[in-house]
Amino acid sequence: MYLVTGATGGLGKRIVRLLRDRDLPVRAFVRLSSNYAELEQRGAEIFIGDLNRERDLRKAFRGVRYAISTHGSRGTGSQIQDIEYGANIDLIDFGKEAGIEHFVYISVLGVDRGYRDSPVFKAKREVENYLQTSDLTYTILRPSGFASNLLPLAERFRSTGIYLAIGDLNNRTSIVSTDDLAQIAVDSVKVEAASNRIFAVGGPEIIARDEIPKIFGRVFNKEPIVLNVPLTVFDGVRTALGWVNPDLQQSLGTLRVLLANEFFCTSDEIHTLESTFGIHMESLESFLRRYLVSQES
Ligand SMILES: NC(=O)c1ccc[n+]([C@@H]2O[C@H](COP(=O)([O-])OP(=O)(O)OC[C@H]3O[C@@H](n4cnc5c(N)ncnc54)[C@H](OP(=O)(O)O)[C@@H]3O)[C@@H](O)[C@H]2O)c1
Repeated sequence: MYLVTGATGGLGKRIVRLLRDRDLPVRAFVRLSSNYAELEQRGAEIFIGDLNRERDLRKAFRGVRYAISTHGSRGTGSQIQDIEYGANIDLIDFGKEAGIEHFVYISVLGVDRGYRDSPVFKAKREVENYLQTSDLTYTILRPSGFASNLLPLAERFRSTGIYLAIGDLNNRTSIVSTDDLAQIAVDSVKVEAASNRIFAVGGPEIIARDEIPKIFGRVFNKEPIVLNVPLTVFDGVRTALGWVNPDLQQSLGTLRVLLANEFFCTSDEIHTLESTFGIHMESLESFLRRYLVSQES
């Protein structure tokens, strides 16, 4: 049995789909308020719980061999601490207690650069350290930005031709196909060379951010209108928000880190990934074309 947290998220649902396509048993950890009907229809066992409740986490491990932690928090302050850090520490402890064989953790590219302004990066770094010294067999995946995040922006571009970007458009990225990442996460427990390893996970090409509207333009055969908001404007809004909501200001630190820095994998890292997992990483353009025809998200 596979336990998947964040099973209704962009990545988690793809992991559940893949496991069910392979006819493997999966327990999807979801909240009562989550949209989990599709997972149920695909034959996943639905476990209703809250990652904040230790009791739920412990119970969810009954009969589990492999855990894949994909959840994340869109909240602020203490919610980030509880979900990104606390829930993962509990999952590691209870997984160990339950004698699971492998723990797959979704971290983030650049987590080891010590960004102090981002509570999410800090939490993920601490979880990585905890997992590495836990005696559990693990795989840590450090992905760049997910291609699936761009689908709503692409849809907006389709109708308006407008692409809104904050920060330096020359910053480079290697956006990863969320489907490739799901496959790597699932295969991590079976590929021997993935045990007790950390992998940077990105798409096959390094692109400057100004390439993204050009790709949209090619996909929809439309000349892009790019609106570029300087990072200083974002900083001003964030500071103003801090006067009324300091928690929100702090949690926007993660977005700022993402906007202000480059997140891409080197060709060596992609080669390691492709040879270890026997996968050919999909380009952003191919991902977008595939989804914007099939309409699945
Ligand atoms: N998106 C990216 O570009 C990116 C890049 C690098 C790394 N990552 C990391 O990759 C992972 C997956 O990201 P994603 O974009 O797929 O996440 P996502 O779409 O934001 O999904 C988050 C998931 O966590 C669940 N969750 C949150 N709080 C919960 C709680 N208290 N109890 C139970 N479930 C809870 C959500 O459930 P509900 O449906 O109920 O809200 C949802 O299923 C995250 O760890 C993220 O930090 C993401």
